[in-house]
Amino acid sequence: MADQRALYEQVILDHNKSPRNYGEMECPDHKAEGYNALCGDQFTIFLKMGDGDIIEDISFEGAGCAISKSSASVMTTMLKGKTQDEAKALFTGFTEMLTSDVDTPFDIEVVGKAQVFSGVREYPVRVKCATLAWHTLMSALEDADGTVSTE
Ligand code: FES
Repeated sequence: MADQRALYEQVILDHNKSPRNYGEMECPDHKAEGYNALCGDQFTIFLKMGDGDIIEDISFEGAGCAISKSSASVMTTMLKGKTQDEAKALFTGFTEMLTSDVDTPFDIEVVGKAQVFSGVREYPVRVKCATLAWHTLMSALEDADGTVSTE
């Protein structure tokens, strides 16, 4: 268990240091901004959609703590080639995992590599950090106007 925790932390630190799919996208089909009202950190998510509601490309930019930035990065690596419905199911599984009790098992099949953030459950104040980009993604998929806030 200690080894697994160390591995998870390593993945989070790596994505924070070298975020994947980072940068503004030219001519995105969807774009949304989200911010954490507690700290003011913010991210923008860019999406390019393909046939059959498939996420063809996704990128993000913005500034945030290590948890929020690495969560945005991991999220983007998981979503390319996924349908909107699959992305929403992943969002649901991820947020359910983070808001469940520490000892509640979660479905690894559903959350995939986003399981590296399962330790965040022990620090409820950080849950908003981990979900910031994900809420912003939902806003982008729904093409909602305005800025999404974690409040
Ligand atoms: Fe701002 Fe984590 S402290 S998003």
